[in-house]
Amino acid sequence: MKQIGLIGWRGMVGSVLLERMRAERDFDHVQPTFFSTSQAGGQAPSIGRAVGPVLDANDLDALKKLPILISCQGGDYTQAVHGKLRAGGWDGYWIDAASALRMAKDSVVVLDPVNLPVMQAAKRSGVKDFIGGNCTVSLMLMGLSGLVREDLVEWISAMTYQSASGAGAQNMRELLAQMGALYEAAKPLLADARTSILDIDRVVNEALGSSALPTEHFGVPLAASLIPWIDKDLGNGQSREEWKATAEANKILGLAPGTLAVEGVCVRVSAMRCHSQALTLKLKRELSQQEIERIILSGNPWVRVVPNDREHSMRELSPAAVSGKLTVPIGRLRRLAMGPLYWSAFTVGDQLLWGAAEPLRRTLRFLID
Ligand code: HSE
Repeated sequence: MKQIGLIGWRGMVGSVLLERMRAERDFDHVQPTFFSTSQAGGQAPSIGRAVGPVLDANDLDALKKLPILISCQGGDYTQAVHGKLRAGGWDGYWIDAASALRMAKDSVVVLDPVNLPVMQAAKRSGVKDFIGGNCTVSLMLMGLSGLVREDLVEWISAMTYQSASGAGAQNMRELLAQMGALYEAAKPLLADARTSILDIDRVVNEALGSSALPTEHFGVPLAASLIPWIDKDLGNGQSREEWKATAEANKILGLAPGTLAVEGVCVRVSAMRCHSQALTLKLKRELSQQEIERIILSGNPWVRVVPNDREHSMRELSPAAVSGKLTVPIGRLRRLAMGPLYWSAFTVGDQLLWGAAEPLRRTLRFLID
């Protein structure tokens, strides 16, 4: 049985990864050693059979003994440990959720329903760093893989509606705390059905501007608002999240940098764990409604086409409908007035599943099978 090391399994992505590995019986195929940066010697999580004690995630000698390491510990850990392991001669497989190594020339970005041939070629050529993609990019490509595979897409405009989970567990808590604070502020007025909605709105707006509103993690209110900037400011008017779209999409697809332009504005909204994206596509040739739906459906077993009507869109194409699910619905498919090659689409996906944990556990299976 293949030995593996798991680092960062207590965090949000790591916990989802463990849940999924248990559900898919991945531990029937691997013997894990659990590592922790802070709780070495503690109890390992339950996987249905005995495993050794938790080891120190900074113990390079212990890490080096394993042929496969999976890290959900974050970019700082990757930066601190990965280079030292490689410099020390470790040539095992490194599977990572963090972005630190994504654009490194010796890494492959993993999303096997979309880029299995790219992953296979990488493995054959000796690539050892298998890195999970940015959640937004991965979810978009899961929705569009059929069109992309048939080389039908000239460019994509992706306007995102990204959930709090993409910013981290503390941010999800803060979003709920903000919602609670706003509700508490309005509660006395809400109790009386005759209160003017403008009075209620004034109270909510005062609470949004109050220093008492918890904003330690987001920096500003997200509840009853939105944040039109995600990740670092690159200084050229683009956020790092927006930059990742073209950079990572092309790398995932095995295309030369910049071949497929994916541009847009990335926005944080008050969803919990599902990212949504409003897409405008320019296709390379005309397709009928039936053809585009058939090609999208052929992309992978998880994509679902939602009929473009009010009822289906409201019920099946929202973070509330998709949270915790592996399916990636795509709907609002409509040819636009700009011309016969232009289409709208809207897609939603669970940021912690296909956006983070799922490609990692599937990469593990890919590497050991
Ligand atoms: N950068 C993403 C976000 C997270 O902030 O939503 C996952 O790649």
